[in-house]
Amino acid sequence: MAIKYSEKVIEHFKNPHNVGELTEPAGFATEGSPACGDQLSVYLDIEEGTHVIKDIKFQSYGCASNIATASIITDMAKGKTLEEAKELTWKQAAEELGGLPPVKMHCSVLAVDALRSAIKNYEETHLGKQFDDSLSKSNVEKELEKIIYGKVGVDILTLKLVKYVGVDNENNIIIDLEMDEDDKFLDDVKKEIREHLAQFEKANKIEINLV
Ligand code: FES
Repeated sequence: MAIKYSEKVIEHFKNPHNVGELTEPAGFATEGSPACGDQLSVYLDIEEGTHVIKDIKFQSYGCASNIATASIITDMAKGKTLEEAKELTWKQAAEELGGLPPVKMHCSVLAVDALRSAIKNYEETHLGKQFDDSLSKSNVEKELEKIIYGKVGVDILTLKLVKYVGVDNENNIIIDLEMDEDDKFLDDVKKEIREHLAQFEKANKIEINLV
């Protein structure tokens, strides 16, 4: 069955805004989507002092929704301060596009993720900020927030499909999921959990239980 896109998605896909790169970006990041393997790079030019995003560009290595959401999120971020841009959400990006099909909602998660990573890169390299990316329950939960249940296009935490998250003394991550074992999206969700959590190098084992 063909996927149906809103007119605005098609318009941004055909004529994307802010495409390209900045030669000396103040902030830069490339993020990949564990859901599909597509990638997105974001380049930022920031005004010193005010921390306003003066210019923003992106390069997409992905699908039509990847291009459309990157186009809209860069439009939305331009002219905002870093603090304001950090508050932009994948839901707002999807809404601004007139909605996305549920199986394509992860594309807007990727767009917001790449924007936030580019901001973080600026804060680390120019403002000397340090971030705690260590293995902890709250950092695991932050990653789970990015995983979309493709049947309805909402993340697994909001949907309360995650019943328990824990990190034990031996650095094993334990996750209890409330999903049917014959749910056709179960394997995708499990695979995405493993791929998102692979960034925690200290993790010994990732245990996913169905409850
Ligand atoms: Fe890969 Fe859209 S399917 S970002």
